Formats: sequence, structure tokens, C-alpha cells
Amino acid sequence: MGQRVALITGSGKRIGAAIATKLLSEGWFVFLHVRSSFAEAQLLLDEYQRETGIPATAEIVKADLDSDGELNQLIEHVLAHESVKNNGGLHGLVHNASIYNSMDFEEVSLAELRLNNRIHVEVPFLLTQRLIEPLKNANGCVIGMIDTSLGRAWKGLSHYTSSKAALRQLMMNLAGDLAPEVRVNCVAPGAIMAAEWEAEHFASVVEKIPLGRAGEVEDVANTVNFLLDSPYLSGQIIEVDGGWSVAP
Ligand SMILES: NC(=O)c1ccc[n+]([C@@H]2O[C@H](COP(=O)([O-])OP(=O)(O)OC[C@H]3O[C@@H](n4cnc5c(N)ncnc54)[C@H](OP(=O)(O)O)[C@@H]3O)[C@@H](O)[C@H]2O)c1
Repeated sequence: MGQRVALITGSGKRIGAAIATKLLSEGWFVFLHVRSSFAEAQLLLDEYQRETGIPATAEIVKADLDSDGELNQLIEHVLAHESVKNNGGLHGLVHNASIYNSMDFEEVSLAELRLNNRIHVEVPFLLTQRLIEPLKNANGCVIGMIDTSLGRAWKGLSHYTSSKAALRQLMMNLAGDLAPEVRVNCVAPGAIMAAEWEAEHFASVVEKIPLGRAGEVEDVANTVNFLLDSPYLSGQIIEVDGGWSVAP
């Protein structure tokens, strides 16, 4: 078997970067997609080489996923890339790119609502659809990065949680539509890395986590790797939340 190939959206920093590092260490060729975090992604690759003594087999690809033209260029680039052509297709596609901000329901503009739906639903839909041939050729696995908001009322996050709910359902639907060639799963992180605006709320959440701590980015990356490596798992949602979702 040749080298396995993955595309991870939004992987210049934070959780996406940890997933990229994990897959590099497992021997994958990784497309690190970024919008603005090019320097961070380059640093990740430089550090990987410094620590392992081996150059990372990777390429940083830049695209604002809110732009139809840039999304199309990203897709065309991956489809034509020698790593995909020479290794039997695309083995992993991780829909990680995300936006996350809090806003009163009454203040959410149509543009904000559309942007959340664009990044969390439309882009994963279109990327999976346009990359279906190399995904099928490689018996690949698609992973949607969702969250633990299912069935709960999160103040000021209706625009975010509703779009992540749609991503969750899209992934579960595709687990049926794309079988048996392609597996589709979700990873639902709990409290892993706070956004800048939510430090106070984050601390109060961590107090309720049965395992007594926030998650590490590696906890999430290891779960993504586990799903990519599990040929009989499809249609699954793994909550990486230290037991938060079952806490009383
Ligand atoms: N952090 C947590 O504790 C947590 C909790 C629950 C769920 N999650 C989920 O886990 C995943 C990773 O979380 P995270 O906190 O690491 O994510 P994040 O930092 O909020 O976002 C990841 C990346 O998305 C990219 N992105 C945003 N808008 C984009 C656009 N228009 N075009 C292209 N890329 C865009 C950004 O890339 P650039 O930096 O290159 O601009 C950003 O670095 C997300 O799907 C998130 O919803 C995270």
C-alpha cells in the first residue's frame, strides 16, 4: 500500500493542527488547509522536521472557504495532486474548519447565519461531493468535527449549534449514502480549547466534567486517528468530552 493521504480543513492551529501532527506521525501525507494561519502551519511542519529528523510529507493549501472560487481551486488542486494520484486516492477528509462566536438570537444577522451554514454545512457538503471519486478509490473516511450541543439550549449560540446539528445529520446521512466504499463519522469535542471570548464560561464548564479537566488537543487528534484506522466503524459519533455529556 502507498502512503495514506488526508485533507484537514482549518488545520493551521489549535485542534486541526494537532490532528495534522498526529497523522504526520502516523506516516500520512497531509494537506493542511488554512485561510489565514499559513505561518502557524509552516511552523508546525518545521517543528515536526526538527523533532523527528524527517521532513513532513505535507502541503499547506490556502483558501477562504467562504469564497466559491477559492473552494473550487482547493478542490481542483487536491484532485490533480500527485499524492492523490499516486497513492490510490484520498483516504481521509476531516471537516474541521469552523467559526464560533456568541450573539443574542435577536442580533444574529442574515450574513452571520449564512456564514455559519456556509462553513459548517455547505462547504463539507460540497467538498465531500467533489472529492467523492478519490475518496471512493481509496475506501476513505470522512470525519465531521461537531460538538456536544445536541439536544441542549446554549445561550447565544443558536446560529452555531443549528449549523453544527446540520453537519452532524449530513455526516450520518452520508454514512448511508456513501457506503460501502466510504465511511463517515463524527468527532464531538467537549471543552478542549476556549475561544478568547468564553474564558469564564469555559472554566464553569470544566468544573462539571467528570474527568476533572479540560480536554487536550491530542485527545481529539487521537480519536480522529482511531476512526480513520477503524475499517468497520461508520455512522458513529464519538464525544471527546471527559464524560461531560453524561454528567448530572
Ligand atoms: N475548541 C473546542 O473546545 C471545541 C469544542 C467543541 C467543538 N469543537 C470543534 O472542533 C473543531 C476544531 O476546533 P477549534 O477550536 O480548533 O477551531 P477554530 O479555531 O474555531 O477554527 C479552526 C479553523 O477554521 C478556519 N476557518 C474559519 N473560517 C474559515 C473560512 N472562511 N475559510 C477557511 N477556513 C476558515 C480557521 O483557519 P485560519 O486560522 O487559517 O483562518 C481556523 O483556524 C471545530 O470544528 C470546532 O467546532 C471545538
